[in-house]
Order: sequence, then C-alpha cells, then structure tokens
Amino acid sequence: MSDHSIESRSASLATDGPKPIDGQAPLVEATRLVKIYQDKEHVPVTALNEVDFRAAPGEFTAIAGPSGSGKTTLLNLIGGLDKPTSGSVVVAGQDLAAMSRNQLATFRLNNLGFIFQAYNLIPVLTAEENAEFNLLLQGVPAHERHEQVVREFEDLGIDKELIHRRPAKLSGGQQQRVAIARALVSRPKLILADEPTANLDSKTGARLLDKMRNLNERTGITFLFSTHDPMVMERARRLVILRDGQIAEDDVRG
Ligand SMILES: Nc1ncnc2c1ncn2[C@@H]1O[C@H](COP(=O)(O)OP(=O)(O)O)[C@@H](O)[C@H]1O
Ligand SMILES: [Mg+2]
Repeated sequence: MSDHSIESRSASLATDGPKPIDGQAPLVEATRLVKIYQDKEHVPVTALNEVDFRAAPGEFTAIAGPSGSGKTTLLNLIGGLDKPTSGSVVVAGQDLAAMSRNQLATFRLNNLGFIFQAYNLIPVLTAEENAEFNLLLQGVPAHERHEQVVREFEDLGIDKELIHRRPAKLSGGQQQRVAIARALVSRPKLILADEPTANLDSKTGARLLDKMRNLNERTGITFLFSTHDPMVMERARRLVILRDGQIAEDDVRG
C-alpha cells in the first residue's frame, strides 16, 4: 500500500539510474554523498561528488571505474567504515549517521559482510577461527560455529584439511575463499567486497565470482563489489561505473 504512495513514487522518480524493483524498499540508499579528503599538503581531494546510489535487495552489482574514481570510498561509506563529508547513507532502513559507534558496530556485525582485496585474515588464527569470528562475536555456541563453518567451507570448496591452517600456509585463492566464508557465515543482508579478485589469477577469480553469483541466486544475499577487472564486470547483473567521484553509467543486465 505505502509502496504506491505519491511520496515513494516521487522519491524513486527523482533518482537517476535503475529504479528499485516496484514495491521493494531499497537495501542501500546513498543520497548526495560527498567525501572530501585532505592530501599530505592539506589540499582537499574530492573522492565522491554528490553521488546518489540505491541498491535493491538481492542485487549482484559491480562498481567499476579507473583507479582513484572513488570505488573504495563508496563501499567504505556504505559499510559505515568511514563517514561522509556530507550526504546520507541508509542501509536496511537505518541511517548510519544516527548510530553511536557501538550501535554501528553491532549493526555491521549483524547485517554486513566484508571481503577485502588483501583478504585481511588474522594471521595468528586458523582458517576455521578466522571464518567463525563473527559468530563468536554474536555469541553462537562453539559446536554450532564449527558446524556452520564446516558447511560453509564445503560449500565454497575449501578442503577439510585446510581448516586448521593459518593464512600464511594457504594460497591466495584459498585465503580469499576463507575470507568469503567469514563474510557469509553469519548470513548478512549485504556483502561489500572491495576488488575481491584483484590478487587472484584470472581462472581462480572467475571461479570465485561464479561462486558468489551462485550464492546470491540461492540465498538472496545482496552483493556489492568494486572491480576494474573486465571478467568481473561481465559477471555482474548491474554495472555502475564511477568516474572522478561521480556515477558515469548505470546499466542493468540479465
Ligand atoms: N585516506 C585518504 N586520504 C587522502 N586521499 C584519499 C584517501 N583515500 C582516498 N583518497 C583519494 O580519493 C580518491 C578516490 O580514492 P578511492 O576511493 O580509493 O578510489 P578507487 O578505490 O576507485 O581507486 C583518490 O583520488 C584517492 O587518492
Ligand atoms: Mg580502491
């Protein structure tokens, strides 16, 4: 009912780019997002310039663009890892700016998964301990954590014998799969991945992307990932191209 109100209609008409699926509230709503950094000489650098971006639940969207175009900045702001200079970010109906640090940390823990280019696994923890980290913070009992992690590893094709290895004893592809398992295991609403295939050979990267898309189709988890790899862009269902901190193209495919 409220989905067809004049208010929500005009709100979606006012936004450029793909409209959210009719009747479905956006999962991510970034409005007039500006991020200005200071460089070493204290000269302001505009990383994002009035970006309006929305993502509907279930999207599998790539954010592409040359190095320095603002991809990482946009993902960090959507994930609440950094604050905008101006503009707002609403995720799952929650305004990130209205939350305290603790509320934001809890919100991230329960709703978001992060996959980083450099994997960011904790070196002193085993593959399993890394992957179960969010479940540990959520207070999930040990035997359940173990079950969930083992299931996730199986699903991602991570060999059983690797679960007690530390990251240094894993290949790049294996580390990235552990990082994906860590992001997935608590079943977040949204996974933010910053150049997830950047350190992988193209075959491993392609396989990983197919796995992510498969998970997206099976579980409905929304994926938002940055890339400048054509192989990754090809596999996205929506491709947003940033140029100089602005959305230059926004293209929905099949
Ligand atoms: N912490 C920072 N301090 C100063 N400038 C930054 C910082 N982070 C990013 N920038 C600048 O903001 C712009 C966008 O950067 P970024 O979001 O990392 O782009 P991308 O991920 O597309 O390569 C670039 O000009 C970059 O140099
Ligand atoms: Mg980047």
